Amino acid sequence: MADETHVLDRPPEGASADWTIPQDWSHYTAAEHAVWDMLFERQARLLPGRASEAYLRGLDVLKLSKPGIPDFEELSERLMKLTGWQVVAVPGLVPDDVFFEHMANRRFVAGNFIRRPDQLDYLQEPDVFHDVFGHVPMLADPVFADYLVAYGQGGQRALELGALKHLARLYWYTVEFGLIAEPEGLRIYGSGIVSSFAESRFALEDPSPNRIAFDLERVMRTEYRIDDFQQNYFVIPSFDELLRVTVETDFAPLYERIMAQPDIPVAAIAPDDLVLTYGSQDYAREKATA
Ligand code: PHE
Ligand code: FE
Repeated sequence: MADETHVLDRPPEGASADWTIPQDWSHYTAAEHAVWDMLFERQARLLPGRASEAYLRGLDVLKLSKPGIPDFEELSERLMKLTGWQVVAVPGLVPDDVFFEHMANRRFVAGNFIRRPDQLDYLQEPDVFHDVFGHVPMLADPVFADYLVAYGQGGQRALELGALKHLARLYWYTVEFGLIAEPEGLRIYGSGIVSSFAESRFALEDPSPNRIAFDLERVMRTEYRIDDFQQNYFVIPSFDELLRVTVETDFAPLYERIMAQPDIPVAAIAPDDLVLTYGSQDYAREKATA
């Protein structure tokens, strides 16, 4: 989401008015395709038994295991048949209203560049691996696909209400870093987790973070960190339930109530929390004193 400082205020040279650019698939070098393949293999090995059923199904039906950086046109064609979504390329982060407008119209904006070989484990800006491997499989799920459309519409409304900060937290703790309780156990579905070698284990298996049952208002009050693993993960019972509660709730009065209350710090436990795992916070503590 475009809440960073390095967002331009108009489309850069060569981009359309809606900020999209050609993906220019034929311009990727063999070395760039090799970076994708390396990242893909590493994650694909890790994710069975860790990623949600819906995510793994998406990976499969979209044929993302085909070697090389996916061609957005080919990918969009498959996705379009399943849920009506498309993937379009943008030069990097785009302004919030542009992001929401695309989303509300079933266009997922993806960076077309790929990280360098020395950035396999970490980079701040979303590249094609994060955007496509991380996000796109979930777009093949009809319920999640509808959730993101509703989120795009909700974003346009939040902008008018001056409540973007609160809505952005919902995106962060679901779309980017969400966990789901499946019959076989806890699973990851957030793109920031499934696209990260280290966090896909940390989020599920490490004793450090808190894992708390998802509650809409609680989540929208909670700060988050963009520089390291989360100290808090929120667990939804199902995608149906996530869609239901977000669509059925009118956010306007909720925003007002939230704005009148203090934010909740990243690692805090709130009085009404249903805590699934009390985190030791050892990881964050060791990092802070290192
Ligand atoms: N129901 C929300 C509103 O009233 C819109 C929304 C739906 C936001 C789904 C996020 C996800 O603004
Ligand atoms: Fe993302």
